[in-house]
Amino acid sequence: MAAAIKETVSNLLGKGEEAPREPSPQEFEQLKQRYEAAGQGQVFAFLDELKPIEKTQLFHQLSNFDPNRINELADKVLKPSQAAAPDAQPSLEPLPDSATASIIDSNPEDVQNWYNEGLKLVAENKVAVVLMAGGQGTRLGSSAPKGCFDIGLPSHKSLFQIQAERIAKVQQLAQKTFGKEKAVVPWYVMTSGPTRKPTEEFFQQHSYFGLDKSNVIIFEQGVLPCISNEGKIMMESKAKVAVAPDGNGGIYQALLTSGVRKDMRDRGIQHIHTYCVDNCLVKVADPVFIGFAASKDVDIATKVVRKRNATESVGLILQKNGKPDVVEYSEIDKETAEAKDPKQPDVLKFRAANIVNHYYSFRFFESIETWAHKLPHHVARKKIPCVNTETGETVKPEKPNGIKLEQFVFDVFPMIPLEKFACIEVKREDEFSPLKNAKGTGEDDPDTSKKDIMQQGQRWIQAAGGVVATEGEATGVEVSPLISYGGEGLEFLKGREIKAPAVIEKEDSA
Ligand code: UD1
Repeated sequence: MAAAIKETVSNLLGKGEEAPREPSPQEFEQLKQRYEAAGQGQVFAFLDELKPIEKTQLFHQLSNFDPNRINELADKVLKPSQAAAPDAQPSLEPLPDSATASIIDSNPEDVQNWYNEGLKLVAENKVAVVLMAGGQGTRLGSSAPKGCFDIGLPSHKSLFQIQAERIAKVQQLAQKTFGKEKAVVPWYVMTSGPTRKPTEEFFQQHSYFGLDKSNVIIFEQGVLPCISNEGKIMMESKAKVAVAPDGNGGIYQALLTSGVRKDMRDRGIQHIHTYCVDNCLVKVADPVFIGFAASKDVDIATKVVRKRNATESVGLILQKNGKPDVVEYSEIDKETAEAKDPKQPDVLKFRAANIVNHYYSFRFFESIETWAHKLPHHVARKKIPCVNTETGETVKPEKPNGIKLEQFVFDVFPMIPLEKFACIEVKREDEFSPLKNAKGTGEDDPDTSKKDIMQQGQRWIQAAGGVVATEGEATGVEVSPLISYGGEGLEFLKGREIKAPAVIEKEDSA
């Protein structure tokens, strides 16, 4: 069972930190024998040098993994020929029309109906959001959690703050539209070992960005040991196994272990929106998306945008062997990536870019136990600083010396039938601007994130009848999510002139 190999996931719903219990000599010996029998005895190489507290910590860390299961996973990825034969040439096709819709081509009346339906569900307190924020943001070149990042907006709001304010706004819109005293969209924030503490501190320092603290639940995903190219569990130090978060697919197990699913059940949640931290345009708890999926009575729905070009680093939503699936950018061959649509030869055949905005029915979350352990593990070859267990030397590798094992959140898609899956195409300029790269890269970096927010604000103001005056290179207007969730409520700017760059934070701030 996958659960058996994960470190215990602690969470804010459960108990606080406790001093680890010291194991008895017999307990320690039993654990040692288990690892030795599995050929992983090197994890105890420095036992004689450890202080009692370090020994206790190592005991607890190792107790949370099953060395035989780790061996199985390592064999699968390091010796693929011994594992089950991979599918003979999987058949890849775009999703059928029956499973797709597009905001761009849909009848505006349908979109309005989905919005009304979704907002009503928000007003009834049936909608929750789960943010996946356990990634380490190495490509961005920052050690802080990505959500803390200031993309350089005039307001200097972090990604977390922008998302929190959208939640506050959607709650307020639902309250107002349906005459409710209080609509609550609980926000479950998934962190990992490296991101949990700084995330919690950031939320505390910013008073949960005005949200009610009891509705912001920070929890932690699991980790897996890093494995050497020879299949051995690696040590970060003499007393600690090198571990890494188990990928965003770790979300499912973590929802169980952390008590988040129970909390959702207790609150009567029926519809869940999950998304990634790095998208500054994300429409958190989007009523249109919720209403679309709920009205189709599906178990999973996903948003896509049109892929920019054949080489963009995005996964593709498609059907593989007749099942909904995602083929990741690192896993697609050039020919498939560049294939053209026979009906429209100037567009890509596979163009439904995954923007990791998923809808789940709560009823589907009730079945996590039956499938979470079936999610495959993907391999990331990495440079992993470690201790050589033979010599005791610290190793700072210059080329990949081991692997991290990760599950992907979308690997659950093929486990449901096509009729229970839906996909909706949305406008990239309104919903997708990911922060992946360091400043100066020119693509998916802090400057493009900032520009996309500022331009969206400008479009909204112009659509509301306002005039945006630009001088030189200064363009765009930042509209606070507390003023407008998706362009609504800006009538007060009609006929007014706003000098860019500007920020609209209050009704009288223009
Ligand atoms: C991801 C998608 C890709 C999509 C792209 C769009 C996956 C596996 N791939 O790629 O299909 O087209 O976004 O931007 O989802 N995370 C965790 N825990 C982890 C690892 C990651 O919570 O252990 C979170 C990150 O914090 C982030 C999200 O998952 O919010 C995506 O992770 P990232 O590594 O940035 O994915 P990409 O490779 O960009």
